[in-house]
Amino acid sequence: MNANPSEPAGVPAPVASHIVRVSLGERSYEIQIQAGLLADLGSRLLRIAKGRRLLVVTDRTIGPLFGPVLARSLQAAGFDGSLAELPPGEGAKSLDVAKFLYDRCFDAQLDRSSCLVALGGGVMGDLTGFVAATYMRGIDFVQVPTTLLSMVDASVGGKVAVDHPRAKNAIGAFHQPRAVFIDPLVLAKLPDRELKAGLAEVIKYGVLDDRTFFEFVESNVGKLLQRDAAALSSAIEKSCAIKARIVGEDEREREGGPRALLNLGHTFAHAIETCTNYQGYLHGEAVAIGMAMACELSVARKLLSRGDADRVRQLIELAGLPVKLKAGDPPADDLHAATFRDKKARGGKLRFVLATSIGTTKVFDDVPEEAARKIWDLPRD
Ligand code: GLY
Repeated sequence: MNANPSEPAGVPAPVASHIVRVSLGERSYEIQIQAGLLADLGSRLLRIAKGRRLLVVTDRTIGPLFGPVLARSLQAAGFDGSLAELPPGEGAKSLDVAKFLYDRCFDAQLDRSSCLVALGGGVMGDLTGFVAATYMRGIDFVQVPTTLLSMVDASVGGKVAVDHPRAKNAIGAFHQPRAVFIDPLVLAKLPDRELKAGLAEVIKYGVLDDRTFFEFVESNVGKLLQRDAAALSSAIEKSCAIKARIVGEDEREREGGPRALLNLGHTFAHAIETCTNYQGYLHGEAVAIGMAMACELSVARKLLSRGDADRVRQLIELAGLPVKLKAGDPPADDLHAATFRDKKARGGKLRFVLATSIGTTKVFDDVPEEAARKIWDLPRD
């Protein structure tokens, strides 16, 4: 095992450190991005932790990769740390697993000055954040995301949850982390398919908010796929900066607020994920198809030019992501019905985030059902 992910083979030398601030008054925090940061996490945590007891929550895939370096750095900084390793996968986001973690919190004698450390992808972050939001009416937690998808989305913004058998993310809270620590070098261990899935969310930020960033991703997609540390750090920093700004304006996704824009492509994506029982596509892959579909709907509604929609689709494809459903995917009628069950459908009305250009998006509640239905009939692979 390579116990020091600050020196994995084949990854260029460390690049500059970046700090992005999420401004939320007394709940403000930093997203610290630096290659090799994991080995230094203990001293970084010392600056924000109220006490010395903490529990690291991870899964059995990530734990063996990064647990040892993290444990050494926490120990060197004088922390009294315990580790909970869970089975990998979405199944960990359950009330049963949360209960198991409450027991681990008591075993580790955590009190209100203690801190949870979420080490892993979005599942670990959401679950750990949920436990932190509820144990003793709320204790601190920090996010240490290890997938590109969780670095640029789930670890930032304080949405924490477990799943209910009837709906994903249905039992949750807004509980902001005290900090997000991102070490882009951990991405050296990320499977290719997951790296690409994370790029879907990176592309999303360009489409929804920043044409210049979209062009940066267009010019650097090859480097990003090759895991160039500088390109990845810049893409992560910019993505986090866009999300941080939006969360700072609209922490709780108020009606009419900008946080809903982060759901670009997600109305279609959630329908695809639900109808394929979360087996056929990774979340980022469903978002990639959903974004291409949202652009098609934007063109059909005469909001977006054909040229811009094609450009988005081409970038998604360049990132090695799907833009179409597969021939064997569920029927269009089933997928359309599932969009109505999406939690973003209000009072039976469909809600879509649509693009008016690359870099500007708006929420629309007035898309006629027929127009939305037609999107599911687009050619399949
Ligand atoms: N992933 C969307 C949000 O955090 O609001």
